[in-house]
Amino acid sequence: MLSEGVTLRAAIRQVLQSHRDGAATILSSLLALEDALGYIPPEGIEEVAELTHTTTNDVWGVASFYPNFRFDPPCEHTIEVCWGPTCHLLGAPAVVKEVLDALGLANEGDTPDRSITFKFNTCLGACAQAPVMALDHHLYGRLTPRAARGRVEALKGSPAHRR
Ligand code: FES
Repeated sequence: MLSEGVTLRAAIRQVLQSHRDGAATILSSLLALEDALGYIPPEGIEEVAELTHTTTNDVWGVASFYPNFRFDPPCEHTIEVCWGPTCHLLGAPAVVKEVLDALGLANEGDTPDRSITFKFNTCLGACAQAPVMALDHHLYGRLTPRAARGRVEALKGSPAHRR
């Protein structure tokens, strides 16, 4: 998410600034943008091409290869449910079912009112707390399906989280 008063292009340059040490690759730059902004805007493709001395076609080629990149802004809120092995074994399928039901979704994606983006995560880095989900990047562990639904319901209609 952008801070107030910061243009998208300026925010992109700020994110990529830390990559100007010569070690940047197209993929590492795209990952940094996705992590900071939640998506890869067209301006990001242009800036990554300039940074890595490649073309926008080269950058699109890499970006479009990976299904986890998104190219439009995410919703106000993001919910990620871990689908990693530990979480899967300790109850993630039932948590996912409950969360999807609460959101009215059948799979990853945005709610029709574009208030919440739901996606899977391969590991949220808190396996000891499995099953885990992240709501606007805040982790919640040892979830039951009921607790997960409660978190989702509480998130609906709450103000947007700023990164
Ligand atoms: S497998 Fe779920 S947090 Fe690591």
